[in-house]
Amino acid sequence: MPRRCPSLRLRSEIIGLKRDRKTERASDAATGLTEDQQLDENHMPYVSPSPRLPVSPSRSTSASAAAKLILCGEHAVVYGRPAIALPLAGIRAHADVADSQVGSGIAVHARDLHRRWRVANDPNGPISQLITSVLSYLEDQVTFTPDLRVSISSTIPIASGMGSGAAVATAIVRALTGHLGRQLAPAEISALVYASEQRFHGTPSGIDNTVIAYEQPIWFLRTGDSLNNLHRPSITPPCAALVPHPPLIEPMSIASPFTLLIGETGVRSATRLPVGEVRRRWQAEPARYEALFDQVGAIVTQARAVLEQGDIAALGPLLSQNHMLLQQIGVSSPQLDALVGAAQAAGALGAKLSGAGWGGVMLALVAPDTRARVLAALEQAGAKRVSATVVNEYRPKPSAS
Ligand code: PMV
Repeated sequence: MPRRCPSLRLRSEIIGLKRDRKTERASDAATGLTEDQQLDENHMPYVSPSPRLPVSPSRSTSASAAAKLILCGEHAVVYGRPAIALPLAGIRAHADVADSQVGSGIAVHARDLHRRWRVANDPNGPISQLITSVLSYLEDQVTFTPDLRVSISSTIPIASGMGSGAAVATAIVRALTGHLGRQLAPAEISALVYASEQRFHGTPSGIDNTVIAYEQPIWFLRTGDSLNNLHRPSITPPCAALVPHPPLIEPMSIASPFTLLIGETGVRSATRLPVGEVRRRWQAEPARYEALFDQVGAIVTQARAVLEQGDIAALGPLLSQNHMLLQQIGVSSPQLDALVGAAQAAGALGAKLSGAGWGGVMLALVAPDTRARVLAALEQAGAKRVSATVVNEYRPKPSAS
């Protein structure tokens, strides 16, 4: 049975399009394959036949995962301040897992990237390692290598602060485990994806994998040990072996709906670069950066309060203040500043960069009467694409996991 995703409370639509085909076709950093690692369907290496799993031959399983936006608190979240993140249900990564010929092993097809490879031929690639770690997590049930085709596709811009890598990984984990007969809890999925992100992106806070795996607005705070050893979401065993020191994750209440425009600079930026630079600056000037992170933390705390009260007008200035602090932290860019400034000048309630910065996306909070004007201003200021996301009212259920 295909795995069903959790119910979605947000909807997104792409309302302005300036596609860059070259960018879309370029290889995904998360996939990380060289040309010679791609699979040539006509020259597949021989793989010893493995026992078949007890699944019906024609079965396939599909799953997807949402993109994400950090509403406020990025970077400071790495240093123990809170952040708020939202899933973007309308922008998704998809994975299909199907049985394949006995003895063929596991083949992956990244459809958007026009790339195919065998896990056995690319054991160290990010997706191959993720698949291997999922199989090892399920080792009680899967004691031999299954024969599978894994197809992935995504409409999430790559390296743009929208969680492309974590969403692709989450879709794969959902489809693969579903295909092999296991329904994992969001905490388990999050932990598997976090371990994968850690292998390839250094020291992520865990906010991306968390908001995408739970697919609901979250308040995220790293605590205690997790600040010293960044391997952590607090989850019950056996996830605890993957991420033994969990952060505090609380589902967020949103009392009134609001609309965000997401402007893409079209500039790709690997998360680890600005994150590494902020770390160097923090090490050089700890007092200055701790003070900046404190100010961000205070803004995020206020943002939570206004969201819970439904005071959307009060959210705007908090977002703009957060952007000014991100400028001081050193992670904005001329393109991001141009888009943020254009949105503010056109009447947005507030605007800021979102994600790691130096490229990627910004967001603008808009009222119904300024939405069209802000959209036009973003396009005029150079946005490669603009999406609109309506964040609906959200009341968390008492138990989130
Ligand atoms: O991967 P991005 O661009 O969404 O940025 C992640 C947010 C940071 O706070 C900059 C890093 C982190 O791990 O939390």
